[in-house]
Formats: sequence, structure tokens, C-alpha cells
Amino acid sequence: MDFSQDKDIIILAIESSCDDTSAAVMKNGVLLSNVTAGQAVHEAYGGVVPELASRAHQQNIVPVVDQALKKAGISKEELSAIAVTLGPGLMGSLLVGVSFAKGLAISLGIPLIEANHLQGHILAHFIQEEGNEHAVPPYPYLCLLVSGGNSQIVKVTAYNQQEIIGQTIDDAAGEALDKCSKVMGLGYPGGPIIDRLARQGNAEAYSFSKPNIPGLDYSFSGLKTSFLYFLRDQLKENPNFIEENKEDLAASLEKTVVDILMKKLEKAVKQTGIRHVALSGGVSANTALRNAFIQRKEAGKWDIYIPKFSYTTDNAAMIAITGHYKFVDGEYCPMDKPAYSRTSI
Ligand code: KG4
Repeated sequence: MDFSQDKDIIILAIESSCDDTSAAVMKNGVLLSNVTAGQAVHEAYGGVVPELASRAHQQNIVPVVDQALKKAGISKEELSAIAVTLGPGLMGSLLVGVSFAKGLAISLGIPLIEANHLQGHILAHFIQEEGNEHAVPPYPYLCLLVSGGNSQIVKVTAYNQQEIIGQTIDDAAGEALDKCSKVMGLGYPGGPIIDRLARQGNAEAYSFSKPNIPGLDYSFSGLKTSFLYFLRDQLKENPNFIEENKEDLAASLEKTVVDILMKKLEKAVKQTGIRHVALSGGVSANTALRNAFIQRKEAGKWDIYIPKFSYTTDNAAMIAITGHYKFVDGEYCPMDKPAYSRTSI
């Protein structure tokens, strides 16, 4: 087969690491389609149930890939390679996407490319769409990667050179928001609910504990405990405390999380001298966090890169751009390489 690079590079990307089944098609680095099926089945449980996630991926994978190809107007035979998230994530969920991608790549006689989910989130800034060109961060840049499973400051010197210079030593920022939301009796996932309520609340109404740990690392477990004890004490006085104050609680909690995230990021900018700063991961959809970035830009302190909402949560477009770069470098994945549930970038 001829993989010479004067031909169009057309990547089909598949992402199934958690509870979103997503497929995307990218031609020469420009996104043609990105189709994602979410899984409402987990809402009743207040968190992702791994077994239910794998079953839903099984049901969704064929229609999602089919739709992505149709939307892009690309046939299977035109594909140059298939990129897939090999990890980290839930093993049962990953296996669905990885097995499907391997089977399809073998049947079409084209290379398989592996993508690291976290690396994908960081490269989401490089996704280009027809008629919607935007500035991409120059190397080196710092990326605040904040999701339900990660809170990291990453120094990015090339698409495949990403160094974690700070990270959470316990809970992730999104996890803390989700857990606090659960304690308040709100729905799942809590992050978007807290975001919505916070817009009507007073962020100065309450203050919660902030960690005091050295270096560029984060900690969110103390905040979660302080929030829990605060509610417990208030509920003893007033059983309706949460209902009567949920907007102020959400705004104060959100402000604390954003302050914690930004303090270490400011420190990282100072330490590295890098003032190109990007935001990635599910929590990057948060209004207060986005505003905190915009404030730094308006103050002339940083050049900032904030992803489109559709590329904040899990999506295959970010796997497609990772796949595109790797294809150009001829970095293919052996078919016997297994999925992995845990690893760093
Ligand atoms: O990246 P992601 O979709 O999944 C992984 O964790 O890999 O991130 C999900 C996290 C959840 O914790 C969710 O509550 C949070 O992102 N999230 C938000 C918002 N939208 C999603 N947190 C705060 N504000 C939001 N608008």
C-alpha cells in the first residue's frame, strides 16, 4: 500500500475511554465530522458505571462511526489510517473502541495509530475546521488540563513532548465539583450544574479551605471535606440550608476551585517564563475558569487558548489531530499493543 504524503491524509478517529462514544474524520488536519453519543444511563447512579458504559459503547460504536463517515462524505476505502484512544480510561470502555479500530484497520489494510487520551485533550487546540480558522498555541506553551480524572499543568514543547510540571496529589478539580454537587443533592455530572447555579450566586458568600502544598501540585480533597463539614453544620441549624442557598454555595465553591487552579498556574508562568497558556479538559467548559483566563489576557499578562465547547469534553476530534501528526511522522501502532487503563502522558 502507498502511504506517501503527496496523497490526502484522511484519519478516522475513535474515542471510547469513558462514557462517550465518539468518532471523527479529519482530512489533511481539517476536521470533517465529529459525532459523539453520550450515555444518559449513568445519571441515575451519580457517576459512571463501568459495566454499563462498555455495554452502551457496544451499541453505539457502529452507528457513531457510520455517521461520522457519512457526515464527512468519506468512504472507508479512502481512509489513510485509524487513530484510537488506547488509554488511559476504563478498560471495558477502551476495549470496545480499540477492538473495533483494530478490526477495521486490519480489514482495510491501513495502519493503526494510538492516541493517549490526555495528550489528545492537550492537542485539541490544533483542531482546525473549514471556515473557522483560529490561532494555535506556539511551542512551548503551558496547558492547564482539568477534567474529572486529572488536574495537571503541562509544559508542551512539541506535539509529542509534553511534560507534567504540576498535578493533583489526590482528587481532580472536576471530581471535587462532582462530589460536592452530589453532597448537595444535585445531579450528575455536577460541574455543569454548579456552573449554571453559580451564575446567579454570590461567590464571596462563603469561604472554604484552600490547600497549602509546595511546588506546582494541586490538592482538592481538603476542599471537598471542608465543604462537607460546612454543610453538615449548617444543616443542623437549618434543614433547608442547601435549598435556600444553593446558588451562593455553588458560586463560592466554584470560585475556590478556580482560585486554587489559577494560583498554581500563575506560579508556573512565573517559573517557566512561558506566557502562552492553554486550557483543556472537561472543566475548561467552566464559565468562571474561562473568565479567569480572559482576565489574564485583558491584563496583558498571557496569550490564552481556550477550546470550543465541543472540544472540552471527550471527543474524537482531538484523537484525529493526534492521529494526523503521528501519521505524518509514520508513528504506527503494532496490532498486538493492548489498551491500558492507567498511564501518564
Ligand atoms: O474531560 P471530561 O469530559 O472527562 C474526563 O474526566 O476525562 O471531564 C468531565 C468533568 C466532570 O467532572 C464534569 O463535571 C466537568 O468535567 N465539567 C465541568 C463543566 N462541564 C463539565 N466542570 C465545571 N464547569 C463546567 N461547565
